[in-house]
Amino acid sequence: MKVERINKSKLDSIDFNSLPFGKYFSDHMLICEYIDDRWLEPRIKPYSEISIAPCAQVFHYGQSIFEGMKAYRKKDEVFLFRPEENLKRFNNSAERLAMPKISEEIFIKGIKELVKLDRKWVPEKYNSALYIRPFMIATEEYIKAMPSRKYMFMVITAPTGAYYDNKIDVKIEQKYSRSSPGGIGFTKAGGNYASAFQPTKIAQKEGFTQLIWTDACEHKYLEECGTMNIFFVINNKIITPELSDSILGGITRDSIITLAQEKGYLVEERKISIEEIYDAEQKKTLKEVFGTGTAVTIGKIKSITSKLGKIEINQHEITDKLKKSLLDIQYGESKDIFNWRLNIK
Ligand code: COI
Repeated sequence: MKVERINKSKLDSIDFNSLPFGKYFSDHMLICEYIDDRWLEPRIKPYSEISIAPCAQVFHYGQSIFEGMKAYRKKDEVFLFRPEENLKRFNNSAERLAMPKISEEIFIKGIKELVKLDRKWVPEKYNSALYIRPFMIATEEYIKAMPSRKYMFMVITAPTGAYYDNKIDVKIEQKYSRSSPGGIGFTKAGGNYASAFQPTKIAQKEGFTQLIWTDACEHKYLEECGTMNIFFVINNKIITPELSDSILGGITRDSIITLAQEKGYLVEERKISIEEIYDAEQKKTLKEVFGTGTAVTIGKIKSITSKLGKIEINQHEITDKLKKSLLDIQYGESKDIFNWRLNIK
């Protein structure tokens, strides 16, 4: 792979004790172009602006997808976490948006090379990591509404701390929808996030941190929570909405299900209605609520509000236990029994 190194690192300008999410970017980036039905050689070069024509398709029809991953440090070792799952999901997103798939050679090998080169940017502190953002955009210079025939795949990385400062207060959204059956909710398309911004802004003005999205047809079943998958502990059972074409298949979600089952918890993936949650609250069987995602890892939900009232959740014992198990694997502190870590040496 062709590598052009930066002349002077920006590393010294970063305060690793205070790392906002996704604001500071590491020295290098990876770039690979798709032209004439094939991917060209990927290149690593200094992080910099790119030049794209105003008529490039991405600006008009939104063919834009991304992934979120992290690299974790244990002393001199640096690990990626289940990167093959990100590749799979990226290619599922690509397929649904009529974009070309990418090979393991470019995606995983490219990310490994990039993180290796910028390994000093992987933070030391527990709860901090190097956030990795692979993405693909349509670059053909043509504003006819049709799939682009040119694309750019890039990877940028950002040392990062916690995504949410505190526990999370959420509102159940029953007017707007994030995604619908047959739509693109299961993909990491940029447009999914854009369509969530305005309803989220309204909720934030009302004092909430995030929304819980409900199904687009009846606004009755819970789907996702902001940028996270959502889990409920009812009695001692862990329940999470089953995956569908309107729910993103989170890799943290999948990992938490696996870890919970390994610890002996019963996990149910099924539809969960708003009514069921309020019912469980009344019967005092609703114990814990949490969200999962790459950026956030596990976010503790402190309250849920809807037309039916406000539910306060004060307990997060199982949440904490699962979070610790996951972080211990990610940071190389425990045995990698599921073979999830990729040591990049
Ligand atoms: C992630 O958790 O990696 C995400 O993609 C959410 C993002 C919008 C920060």
